Amino acid sequence: MKADILLGLQWGDEGKGKIVDVLAADYDIVARFQGGPNAGHTLEFDGRKHVLRSIPSGVFANGSTKVNIIGNGVVLDPVLFAEEARALENEGIDLHSLLRISKKAHLILPTDRLLDAAGEKAKGASKIGTTGKGIGPTYTDKVSRHGLRVGDTLTADFETRYHRARQRHIDMLEAAGAGLPDNFGEMEAKWLDAINYLDSFELVDSEHLVNKALDEGKSMLCEGAQGTMLDVDFGSYPYVTSSNTIAAGACTGLGLAPRRIGRVYGIFKAYCTRVGSGPFPTELFDETGAEIRRIGHEYGAVTGRERRCGWLDMVALRYAVMINGVTDLIMMKSDVLDGFDTIKVCTAYRLPDGSTTEDFPYSLGDNAEGKGDIEPIYESFPGWKQNLCEVRNEDDLPAEFKNYLAFIEKAAGVHVTILSVGPDRTQTIIRH
Ligand code: GDP
Ligand code: IMO
Ligand code: MG
Repeated sequence: MKADILLGLQWGDEGKGKIVDVLAADYDIVARFQGGPNAGHTLEFDGRKHVLRSIPSGVFANGSTKVNIIGNGVVLDPVLFAEEARALENEGIDLHSLLRISKKAHLILPTDRLLDAAGEKAKGASKIGTTGKGIGPTYTDKVSRHGLRVGDTLTADFETRYHRARQRHIDMLEAAGAGLPDNFGEMEAKWLDAINYLDSFELVDSEHLVNKALDEGKSMLCEGAQGTMLDVDFGSYPYVTSSNTIAAGACTGLGLAPRRIGRVYGIFKAYCTRVGSGPFPTELFDETGAEIRRIGHEYGAVTGRERRCGWLDMVALRYAVMINGVTDLIMMKSDVLDGFDTIKVCTAYRLPDGSTTEDFPYSLGDNAEGKGDIEPIYESFPGWKQNLCEVRNEDDLPAEFKNYLAFIEKAAGVHVTILSVGPDRTQTIIRH
């Protein structure tokens, strides 16, 4: 069997958690391949809402899903993991039998969070607006070959290794003029305690596990975190996260050869949002932007931060489709646009030199806030002015909505196979 991938095509928060939960019923394995607790994936069913950060969104699936994997490409904070995992266990989810964790996943240390905060402070007005979870410093240590991995916790000299890494970080903090907080001892004790809990899970060589499973005919869905516009290579650099959020990230983050990849589900909202700083060409600063935020409840799933809102950006979306080799599009939150008279889509960019392009440019500009250097060129569509939340069959969709959808499919060159019209698991239309 081949492994399928589901990933975000915008700036994250597209609704990955909801759709992984919907699709997971048909898969034997669900695996996270990058990112860490910077993610917040929301699932809603039976009148309840769950937000997952490090744990794959397949843990609630009915049907065949038996194994959820945290892959080697993920960075794991033992304290946040323990919080999330214990909450699930308290709800009766048998996580110890459902979850496997790669020994090669890197550990986020208490000092990584402090380094993240110090880095942001040093950047001043050009700060990235990170989630403050220590993601950047942990991936930096991984690449500079200073990282600590989950498998290291099983070695006899783990405490020595930890103290060496911690001292290095303390030296870096001091050099940056930042010290340790008064409660650091407490933070550290909690972290070491959480390591013991982490070790009570099955820690595995997940690259062997996934390849063997595919050889045996098992099906697998790789769950992306963040989105293509936050990819460290192809996103709106430097306002990005520190991992490869794109399809190629599933190969490195799980040990899958490219020929092992099957379908690539690219997920996007019917409009755009972004949280944190960085250029955002279609951002709306007016009442329309505020309206989208209010109707779409566009506030961070974990941090509660206000998400910036704007119209759909086809220039960026087409680029994301290309980079990821998307085979199926999934459009989310169409219902949020139900009441608008007119819906706009950005089809081209006007660049600072006055020229226009439909191709995603080298840079969107260096502005920490605002549109950046790009002027979006819009096409307008009449709104459907009808409640989509109850629609379950694509034949019942209004003509204006079908028109909007057909335009997107044509521009992207890929079919939209799933439509989401509300946060609940059941508010999903599978198209044929
Ligand atoms: P993720 O990080 O990609 O999993 O997305 P988030 O969970 O951070 O953000 C998506 C938000 O939109 C969550 O609050 C979901 O419950 C909600 N949501 C998902 N799909 C839909 C939809 O089709 N309509 C509406 N109104 N809300 C949705
Ligand atoms: P999910 O998986 C939206 C953003 C942060 C910041 C930038 C870098 O829920 O879609 P980091 O802490 O990763 O160093 O922050 O990336 N960011 C996200 N935005 N959704 C996410 O995850 C995000 N994870 C990180 O706001 O701008
Ligand atoms: Mg999210």
